[in-house]
Amino acid sequence: MTKEELLHLLHQMTTQEKCRELMQLPMEAFTDTDISTGPCEDLELTDEKMAQVGSILSLTGAEWTRKVQEEHLKNNRLNIPLLFMADIINGYKTIFPIPLAQGCTFDPDLVRQLAEAAAREGAAAGVHVTFSPMADLVRDPRWGRVMESTGEDPYLNGIMAEQMVKGYQGDDLKEEGRLAACVKHFAGYGAPLGGREYNQVELSERTLLEDYLPAYEKAVRAGARLVMSSFNTLERVPSTGNRKLMREILRGKMGFQGVLISDYAAVKELIAHGLAENEAEAARLALEAGVDIDMMSRCYSDFLCGQIERGEVAQELLDEAVLRVLELKNDLGLFENPFKDGSPEKEKELLLCEKHRSLAQRAAEESFVLLKNEENMLPLSKEETTAFIGPFGEEKGLLGAWALFADREDTVTMKEGVERLCPGQIWAKGCEILEPGQKWLRGYIPITEETWKQTAETAEEKLIEAVEAAGKADRVVLLLGEQELESGESGSCGRIGLPPSQMKLLKAVVQVNPNLVLVVFSGRPLILTEACAYAKAVLFAWMPGTQGGPAVANVLYGCSNPSGKLTETFPYHMGQIPVYYSDFATGRPQMPGYIDIPKEPLYPFGYGLSYTEYAYSPVKLDQKVLDSQTDVIHASVRVKNTGSMEGREAVQLYIQDVKGSVSRPVRQLKGFQKISLAPGEEKEVRFEIREEMLRFWTIDMEYRSEPGQFRVWIGTDSRTENGEEFYLR
Ligand code: BGC
Repeated sequence: MTKEELLHLLHQMTTQEKCRELMQLPMEAFTDTDISTGPCEDLELTDEKMAQVGSILSLTGAEWTRKVQEEHLKNNRLNIPLLFMADIINGYKTIFPIPLAQGCTFDPDLVRQLAEAAAREGAAAGVHVTFSPMADLVRDPRWGRVMESTGEDPYLNGIMAEQMVKGYQGDDLKEEGRLAACVKHFAGYGAPLGGREYNQVELSERTLLEDYLPAYEKAVRAGARLVMSSFNTLERVPSTGNRKLMREILRGKMGFQGVLISDYAAVKELIAHGLAENEAEAARLALEAGVDIDMMSRCYSDFLCGQIERGEVAQELLDEAVLRVLELKNDLGLFENPFKDGSPEKEKELLLCEKHRSLAQRAAEESFVLLKNEENMLPLSKEETTAFIGPFGEEKGLLGAWALFADREDTVTMKEGVERLCPGQIWAKGCEILEPGQKWLRGYIPITEETWKQTAETAEEKLIEAVEAAGKADRVVLLLGEQELESGESGSCGRIGLPPSQMKLLKAVVQVNPNLVLVVFSGRPLILTEACAYAKAVLFAWMPGTQGGPAVANVLYGCSNPSGKLTETFPYHMGQIPVYYSDFATGRPQMPGYIDIPKEPLYPFGYGLSYTEYAYSPVKLDQKVLDSQTDVIHASVRVKNTGSMEGREAVQLYIQDVKGSVSRPVRQLKGFQKISLAPGEEKEVRFEIREEMLRFWTIDMEYRSEPGQFRVWIGTDSRTENGEEFYLR
């Protein structure tokens, strides 16, 4: 449709129809026989409302979306097609590693390919919009949604979010296999106080602008078609009613022109936040703030119309919101083809196809972080007998909390992966993932009475069996970690570490066999200080996805060399949180920070070992003074693979502004490149340093650089001391 035709359509709509166009309903509204209960209970749905609604959440599957769309078009007076939106976060049916693990690949090109594959599958299943990427910066691993972020660094998060947007959307949303991307959660959702889900956020304006907003902005400037408001408050104003945040910053400064959708029921939650007295006021505040779609409440659908007709809310605000939604539908080509790419044949061809599975496996292998490897514990030898012990041996829950549409039966387990590669090893479960007696997951998902009873009753037997297995083997690989739903939304945890029964297993096993390799599956960084002291090698496998088993097996047996690096600091102790690399020096940087625990984390940002070794030459700068704004310094190192195995290394560039009108971080990531090196091979890695990279929010709240001295380091992680100095004139 042309713009004129869209405007014509808009003018044909009644005010009531417009308000309902902005409502998003859950799939239950179209699938449950009784819509007076469950998530639909408060929506007071009627046939008329449903015929006028504009979009649906979480309804997927080619046949199903087609049926619902056909029915809708019969009932909708103006034939406006529905938008199908879903959380396709790390894959649809083929599940890739969780976003945090994707960040650890330090490979933006690979991350884009994963988004492309996820979009191909989602589009085949009739979906139009994915609620990804999550560009929230996270520095508190207690917060469950750390799994959905790419980590603690604004620069890296921005690059990854940008690549995800490009991967989902391509150049044209009408192209086959594309989804519109929705950047979330605007803004600052990743910084809830105490790591407590949905909690208030307290950030200085500078920290917000400099650290938290850039990744969203990068995704917006990459063309993301939607943005989602966050649940939290910023400066005590909930985002969904925050006019300054949405109109001035997002639409004004960042130039966002797409659709702004509220998070789940967040418009109505303005009442609980104490911002609105009732649903009518909540609707007005959200619309005035610039929120176009009301996900999962009836504030817009039931309470806007009257206010518009009485002139209490400006008609133009409603019209501009509806027009944005119609434009999105138009750009997806839905007026011509309301089913877009949804097709059962395409589903058969694409979902879980070999190409996607092998991509999933490669990504998983690239995302694992080797935290420790003493006495060459890894790789394992096929000549030796290994006992694989732990509750993750046959676990299919390796997908993470957002694999909403995947079937766990499609996961290839650790045992299957190892048996394909090196059959005949010893297996024992040792314990359950969850503690005996643990009744709840993520705050509200109850575990059945039966499950935890069984857990308690058989615990001792399992432990004895495991210790026996350990005694019979040359080496032990312990497979421990978090249950896949322990991190994710509402998955804030006060204790982040291996649970007591898993630690008990570890300690019992190490007594009989000290050749211990620990593999950890988790959605978040865990405090592994004690566990790492017992194990000779530690591989962090995150939630690796559908091909998790074979990917871990490949890395353990050295068919693949680990190259992941942490994008989220691993604390030494809970009391250090928040702990992150780009901190500020105090006036007394030499002081220890605490009297009872170290100041340093267990493993820093950027850290990760390999089966080979890399030697870095000193940093070379082609000039020491950056002269004008168009000038560039080339900073380079030579990196040599001095070991005997081919490997990939994420070479990282950090910069420190030594003195500014406000204190500057001790160092900040400003570049990285992932390179491959054969044994003995050496490559030059070159970075450009330009004036724009040195800008920050000065004492006068201007975004610019200040002349003076800078330090630059290029190395293997954020602790590298391989540095040089230069001056900006
Ligand atoms: C989450 C969003 C998600 C939405 C729709 C909310 O609870 O915060 O990230 O996209 O639900 O499922």
